[in-house]
Amino acid sequence: MTVGRRLGGSSRVAGRVIVVTGASRGFGLALGSALAKRGARVVLSSRTSTECEAAAAALREEGHDVTACVCDVRDRSAVQALGEAAIARYGGLDVWINNAGTSAPYGPVREVPESAFLSATRTLIDGVYFGSKTALSHFAGGDGMLVNIVGRGERSPVALQAAYASAKAWVRNFTLALAAEERSRGLAILAFQPGLMDTRLVLEPVVLPSYEHRMGALAIVSRLFGAAPELAAEALVRAIAERRSGYLAAHPWWWMLVGPLRLLTGARPARPIRARVRND
Ligand SMILES: NC(=O)c1ccc[n+]([C@@H]2O[C@H](COP(=O)([O-])OP(=O)(O)OC[C@H]3O[C@@H](n4cnc5c(N)ncnc54)[C@H](OP(=O)(O)O)[C@@H]3O)[C@@H](O)[C@H]2O)c1
Repeated sequence: MTVGRRLGGSSRVAGRVIVVTGASRGFGLALGSALAKRGARVVLSSRTSTECEAAAAALREEGHDVTACVCDVRDRSAVQALGEAAIARYGGLDVWINNAGTSAPYGPVREVPESAFLSATRTLIDGVYFGSKTALSHFAGGDGMLVNIVGRGERSPVALQAAYASAKAWVRNFTLALAAEERSRGLAILAFQPGLMDTRLVLEPVVLPSYEHRMGALAIVSRLFGAAPELAAEALVRAIAERRSGYLAAHPWWWMLVGPLRLLTGARPARPIRARVRND
């Protein structure tokens, strides 16, 4: 067992300057909170300034060193400005986490509005590219760490979720390529799979009108295999403390047994799925 694990991941996290994109809620916020509570200096970022500032203010009230910074990751200059803001505030940059994510409405490619499809891929692909380039340009020595969040579809196609799932396959391959390229510089570059979580992305999916009935399956899968985002956040804090590189999933192989166990014991009540129907 490493020192980082023994100390709950604090040892190599305290004092580090960490940027988390998409951190106003969900996994990004759970992660930002967990890092701040280990003594990291955290920049929380998202598009919506009220939500992002409220999240940072709540953590500051608890005595943690947290700054909010508005950034739409689809915008290259905004992402560069986010990196500069972190350095201006804290004097350096140690860890960058490309977490911001969204999904196009659930439905077939031929029916998903082009603007929604491209907005999702620009967030998931361009955002990760801009964030990765920015982070790599600021990591001075071999101590920096870049984390890109992967998700459903990273290894196989998912019908009716083509924008999200195929973008995650891109993120996985892009991140593993970067890890190989940057190994000689000593940087840690990690593709992290948090697993299915109870966040707005899952519990309030956007769907095309005739696909709402498909959300029943999501409710079942989420009841069986979902988890609070705090669980995956703890796994990523440990990975950051240990400077893991390559690919890591939050849950071990035996997580697949959790579903049948929950089914047998009724241990986890169903989470309501509130689908939002997109009509344009
Ligand atoms: N939930 C799951 O089961 C699951 C599973 C595997 C992977 N993931 C991945 O985990 C990450 C976080 O997802 P989540 O489940 O926590 O979703 P979420 O609760 O919907 O949170 C998404 C976050 O991203 C921000 N965001 C969205 N578009 C953005 C943009 N263009 N620029 C900057 N910020 C943006 C949102 O804030 P604003 O809207 O205010 O910008 C919010 O803070 C995503 O990469 C997702 O793909 C999730």
